[in-house]
Amino acid sequence: MKVPFCDLGAQHKEIKTQINKAIKRTIKRSDFILGLDELAFEKEFAKYCGSEFCVGLSSGTAALFLALLCSDIGEGDEVIVPDFTYIATALAVSYTGARPVFVDIEEDSYNINIASLEKAVTKRTKAVIPVHLYGQPVKMQQILKIAKANGLKVIEDAAQAHGASMRLSDGQWVKCGSMGDVGCFSFYPTKNLGALGDGGAVTTNSDEIYRKLLMLRDYGRISKYEHAIIGYNSRLDTLQAAILREKLKKIDAWNKMRQEAAFYYNLRFKDVPSVITPSSEDGIKHVYHVYAIRTNKRERVYNCLRDKGIGAIIHYPIPLHLQPAYRSLGYKEGDFPVSEKTAKEIISLPIFPHLSKKQIRYVCDCIKKAVKA
Ligand SMILES: Cc1ncc(COP(=O)(O)O)c(C=O)c1O
Repeated sequence: MKVPFCDLGAQHKEIKTQINKAIKRTIKRSDFILGLDELAFEKEFAKYCGSEFCVGLSSGTAALFLALLCSDIGEGDEVIVPDFTYIATALAVSYTGARPVFVDIEEDSYNINIASLEKAVTKRTKAVIPVHLYGQPVKMQQILKIAKANGLKVIEDAAQAHGASMRLSDGQWVKCGSMGDVGCFSFYPTKNLGALGDGGAVTTNSDEIYRKLLMLRDYGRISKYEHAIIGYNSRLDTLQAAILREKLKKIDAWNKMRQEAAFYYNLRFKDVPSVITPSSEDGIKHVYHVYAIRTNKRERVYNCLRDKGIGAIIHYPIPLHLQPAYRSLGYKEGDFPVSEKTAKEIISLPIFPHLSKKQIRYVCDCIKKAVKA
């Protein structure tokens, strides 16, 4: 049996007719840039996230970068970023001229360590970017409290967390991307909500940020040939938005299928102490963009999976502070022990909505043999 890491084909098969119609509709209208479907998608995605506004952008990286610009972050400023995330989180900070300041992660959730974050705040700190890594919500209430006390902007990196949610102290459930000053999303094809190409968005409740983003993504334009600020070309294509509108209708069902797959994995690993499964907590709804296990026999597990035709990926093998691109920041090995240990032991297993129980059993049996050998 072969088990791919991700199977986009199965998703597309389910909504092929609707996607084809959306593509035909866009071609017929030929409103490829900021067309009707783009504007409609923004309204629908904002509503889905529980935010007032959404601005469609060309990628998740553009979303982070433009969100930082909206907070006037630039040279001389510091932005706190978890050390264990996809590099785009930090790159967006670097593009502004500000310095990304890395902090360690929690051993159970792999999300930013709140105590370390608090210690890292200096006079130069302007913002923090909590990343809802793998689709697991960060404990936002604590972050918002620290941010308020220190006058920091909170830029949520929800690139992996479409539809993930958490329960607030008043019992209300809120979605990732709706709690900070802005929420940044990626619609990279394999994401829980993925386009058929690149795409991204920012969600916000701030009218001011919304208006600035509309300009920033569109050459700083205020009318066709009048430009108020130095902007960029970072718009979400209408064609991608039309496709995303169809996929948005399925996201809750597909997230539920991912959750069921994750629960089944957890069950199969219950009696395997050398395999650490993802943590779960009351009041947190993880959407399993990634299902990552931790084992000190990773090499053996990885090789065994590969030999059996099973897709597995390491998210991420090198923590940000040890990336060659960030050598100039002066970090060294040992600076962030949890992040470093996680990078050595983590391995992501196949997960996608249509993954079958039979495929999960095959993956788990292979891993159980590998860790016992
Ligand atoms: C946590 C995180 N942040 C940001 C990004 C960047 O998104 P994009 O690839 O759409 O630029 C990604 C994409 O993988 C991501 O996983």
